[in-house]
Amino acid sequence: MPLSQDERIVALANDLLQQFDKIYGIHPGFRPAHAKGLLLSGVFRPAAGAADFTRAPHIARESTSVTVRFSDSTGLPLIPDNSPDANPRGMATRFHLAEHVHTDIVAHSTDGFPTRDGKQFLEFLRAAAASGPDSPSPKPIEQFLASHPAALTFVQAPKPFPSSFARQTYFGVTAYAFINVAGKKSFGRYRIVPEQGNEFLSAEQAAGLSPNYHFDEIAERVGKAPVQFKIMVQVAAPDDTNDDATVHWPESRPQRELGALELTKVVPDSLARQQQIIFDPIPRVEGIEPSADPLLEIRAALYLLSGRRRRAAKMEETKR
Ligand code: HEM
Repeated sequence: MPLSQDERIVALANDLLQQFDKIYGIHPGFRPAHAKGLLLSGVFRPAAGAADFTRAPHIARESTSVTVRFSDSTGLPLIPDNSPDANPRGMATRFHLAEHVHTDIVAHSTDGFPTRDGKQFLEFLRAAAASGPDSPSPKPIEQFLASHPAALTFVQAPKPFPSSFARQTYFGVTAYAFINVAGKKSFGRYRIVPEQGNEFLSAEQAAGLSPNYHFDEIAERVGKAPVQFKIMVQVAAPDDTNDDATVHWPESRPQRELGALELTKVVPDSLARQQQIIFDPIPRVEGIEPSADPLLEIRAALYLLSGRRRRAAKMEETKR
């Protein structure tokens, strides 16, 4: 995974990293966002007919081993799972294609994103950080939301507590181009749908949970039976905007099944492995290409810089 050659992208990635550090503090060895997580392993099997949609290697093979990282939002490694700030949850999936060859899907549990690009996201974070209880009204974040309707929509979107990491849908948010053997290109957005369906808790139910409820629950669940998801792609119509994550496509757009994920165990050395693994929102694989969505390049640069820093850090031992 090479670092972007574009100096402006690298500078923006560093500014974003600093802003996360300012908001959540520095926790050596942990991610500045989605800090609290757990790794599971399992297998991906493609759906019949998925090769008509993409010639990606994991769609052509019978099965591919996967590593999945479930996470809570925020840069706080000890955030209680029942804090409203823990939503949206993250699900990052790595498909292991060969030694040191892989492709990833990075998704979260809200269908959308507050800003169109990284620069606007930095403004959003800065406005939020400057809007403490003592800042006078209208607070910077109120002003930002009033002038950025997509950010307001995202902030106001319901982010309910799932009953389990295994009982909610995760959205890839940005579009990718899927290319089949005949060279036919279709734009689409990932949805990772739980086999058992979505199930959410009320705020009162969530308030009664233990601070590590969701991670304990998923570890216990996978110890009893495989945790299953379907990987779907919502397919764009030819005129749909495919370079702007803040623009939703109509729900009526068809969805194609790419295949099924079956997670079978918690990775034994999960904490150490999380420090090492760096997920990449750019697929870098035959048959799946990035769209022109500006979020992809900035995220790829930022996750790489952040991941290098994390690998170099001595981990704070007490945190999971
Ligand atoms: C400009 C936009 C964004 C910024 C600045 C940003 C920032 C970050 C940062 C700093 C990390 C930690 C990376 C690491 O240390 O490995 C991260 C991880 C993550 N982000 Fe984003 N993010 C953005 C957009 C998104 C979007 C659109 C999604 C959902 C599709 C998303 C979902 C996630 C998830 C699930 C993780 C955890 C990945 C893992 O488990 O390693 N982010 N993000």
